[in-house]
Amino acid sequence: MTARIHASTSSAGARASAATHADVAIGVPLPHESAELHVSGEAAYTDDLPELAGTLHVALGLSRYAHARIASLDLSAVRAAPGVVEVLTAADIPGENNCGPVLHDDPILAEDTVFYLGQPVFAVIATSRELARRAAALAKSDDVVRYEPLEAVLTVAAARERRQYVLPPLHLTRGEPAAKIAAAAHRLQGEFEVGGQEQFYLEGQIAYAIPKENAGMLVYSSTQHPSEMQQVVAHMLGRPAHNVVCECRRMGGGFGGKESQSAVFACIAALAADRLRRPVKLRPDRDDDFMITGKRHDAVYRYEVGFDDDGRILGTRVEIALRAGYSADLSGAVATRAVCHFDNAYYLADVDIVALCCKTNTQSNTAFRGFGGPQGALVMEVMLDAVARELGRDPLDVRMANYYGIGERDLTPYGQRVGDNVLAPLTAQLLESSDYRQRRAALGEFNRRSPVLKRGIAMTPVKFGISFNVPFLNQAGALVHVYRDGSVLVNHGGTEMGQGVNTKVAQVVAGELGLPLTQVRVSATDTSKVANTSATAASTGSDLNGKAAEAAARTIRERLAELAAKILGGDPAEVRFENATVEAGGASMPFAQLVNEAYLSRVQLWSDGFYATPKVHWDSKTLTGHPFYYFAYGAAVSEVVVDTLTGEWKLLRADLLHDVGRSINPAIDIGQIEGGFVQGMGWLTTEELWWNHEGRLMTHAPSTYKIPAVSDVPADFHTALYRNENAEPTVFRSKAVGEPPLLLAFSVFLALRDAVSACVPDAQAAPLLRAPATPEAILDAIAALEASRAGDAVTANGTATTATADSSNDASEAVPGDVLGAD
Ligand code: MTE
Ligand code: HPA
Ligand code: MOS
Repeated sequence: MTARIHASTSSAGARASAATHADVAIGVPLPHESAELHVSGEAAYTDDLPELAGTLHVALGLSRYAHARIASLDLSAVRAAPGVVEVLTAADIPGENNCGPVLHDDPILAEDTVFYLGQPVFAVIATSRELARRAAALAKSDDVVRYEPLEAVLTVAAARERRQYVLPPLHLTRGEPAAKIAAAAHRLQGEFEVGGQEQFYLEGQIAYAIPKENAGMLVYSSTQHPSEMQQVVAHMLGRPAHNVVCECRRMGGGFGGKESQSAVFACIAALAADRLRRPVKLRPDRDDDFMITGKRHDAVYRYEVGFDDDGRILGTRVEIALRAGYSADLSGAVATRAVCHFDNAYYLADVDIVALCCKTNTQSNTAFRGFGGPQGALVMEVMLDAVARELGRDPLDVRMANYYGIGERDLTPYGQRVGDNVLAPLTAQLLESSDYRQRRAALGEFNRRSPVLKRGIAMTPVKFGISFNVPFLNQAGALVHVYRDGSVLVNHGGTEMGQGVNTKVAQVVAGELGLPLTQVRVSATDTSKVANTSATAASTGSDLNGKAAEAAARTIRERLAELAAKILGGDPAEVRFENATVEAGGASMPFAQLVNEAYLSRVQLWSDGFYATPKVHWDSKTLTGHPFYYFAYGAAVSEVVVDTLTGEWKLLRADLLHDVGRSINPAIDIGQIEGGFVQGMGWLTTEELWWNHEGRLMTHAPSTYKIPAVSDVPADFHTALYRNENAEPTVFRSKAVGEPPLLLAFSVFLALRDAVSACVPDAQAAPLLRAPATPEAILDAIAALEASRAGDAVTANGTATTATADSSNDASEAVPGDVLGAD
């Protein structure tokens, strides 16, 4: 990597900055609070907890069919296997056999029917993990579980055809899209598809449950949502929530995959621990983790757009068919976010959006960084690319012509104004720093001279809504303790998954109390410290928990200020807390000394804090409201080179410019931007989920499922923070950063489309490149483009056909499909 702009993420750089800013905790690129523990291997993950004497291990017997009735279950051979202590089925669950986060359609263990291949059917508890796994593998035998196969629905298309959904379709419409499309000078319709994505957290799912006295249960869980784990375990046991404590020190990544789906593991470990009165650990193997848990929703789209000579959209309709899998999980909220991100950065006066949560006999898809936002916005970028190619214009110009404006053209389809829009200046700055126009010209020259290697370039913008789109989830709590020596312990409801929430929250508290970061420690997340927390998700971890911790620290500071004014003189409102010193009335004293005086004066030195995001509301019937407190923005320029004989390609250069408001920690924010970009690139290029005709996921290990490696990071990589501050009074005027940068990777996919289209410069169609753009997909797209030049019918995925205004094609019928067609 060369020429980084802004804060360096190298540890030397971060260390130097830390030294320079020793006294200032907030707004500086301090290293992640666990950085040294991460690199030394000292950081403790759930599997690193010392095992208590008598610990047993669980392995799961998984369904061999995508959809079947369990005709018979004879577990005697499993019980007799070496080391086996107990075998449990759904019948052994004392409370509710459900761990679904919203609907009650997620059995912990299958009852009489299995709904996907990989579904847990029984749990084997043995003296070692190895013996448990060996015994569980007996599930492969017909003598153990006999199935009567039922018809399985394995594709989005098949589910859509049958109108088989886990939740009713979502439909948002504004204006008169059909009429506007019909009247437009140009029209275009198309189909597109994007694959799913496995979260591939480096630390797999895991739970360790320890029974406590009087029907208590302590569950260590690698989870983004300890309160939810507490609740589902309590329901499963049929006991009140106060019997259950869930704790998480940190995760080795979650990426949405541990927002709801840590539950089945937490429940089964707790079930076994409760039953056997012994500590029980459940750590599925990576392959089982792949087979059991849901992923990012893959999507199939149909779109239709009418536009003017400048490529300005006059009317558009889209149907987004998402693969929900066998149960609802979080799909309703994911689909809602997809609906609310179809617009991405663009004003759509007349628009119709349908989202379908298709029910298939596959894993139940769930949260993954972006949470439907990427699936909503990607099709818009593909559509605008097709529009630009239809008009023979640079897609960049068509994009900018459609940008949300300020004051006018600023109302989203769901009725929220885009009040904090920085798209135009941000894009201008990026085009300048990336040298886009000159590189576009040079690339055309290169492609004219180069028959086999073709280059492509693209700029794509991002506008991402920040807040949970379920308003009540936007709340958080914290509990801050100041001890007699002046050291501070912060408990908050957020969970650390590598994203740096603990570092940022500690920075906020340190900033509030005028202490160096070394004075502030963040505890493990624990449901007995802060109750009823939301998942650390929707990128809101630092926004919500930072505000709650700030409130708690402020309460303590105000109490201390009262006392300081008494001791030192002056007005309590003018007491200053800086450099671990307290100043008042022209005198000062060390913070620790004041704290000790406060203790001796019986001043309360700990406080809770609470935060609820203002302004957010949502009407789930009309799909309108103000679902987001604010928006985060960004844009990226990517340039690729494609080998048109093999379909292989390389990202040559990427320039990312992203808006994090006023950064609490630029080093962490740049890490999130780069990580999100590379993860998004993996989704759109190398990561391919493939189920066979039986519904068996065949890409269930790194051998067959390729996430990006360090070698995929471009040699020429420029990441910068856009100078901005949040228009809303968020903590430090910062903005959330976790998810939005994933969408910056659209630029890589669109650059690949650009390179493919350069293969057949005189083609009459836009390139039909599906995502992920694997080498096969790239070769297919080149072949389809060549066929279109030859005048053949085009049938590859991503079909686009065009019509001009004078054609007899009736626009209202142009996109097939009952849902879309029914206005
Ligand atoms: N970064 C790391 N290193 N590991 C993760 O698991 N998850 C992402 C993002 N960045 C993730 C990550 C997702 S999906 C979300 S919603 C946010 O972090 C959650 O954390 P935050 O709200 O504190 O940003
Ligand atoms: N993101 C993540 N999780 C959620 C959301 C969201 O927007 N809404 C409900 N759960
Ligand atoms: Mo992130 S997908 O909201 O956990």
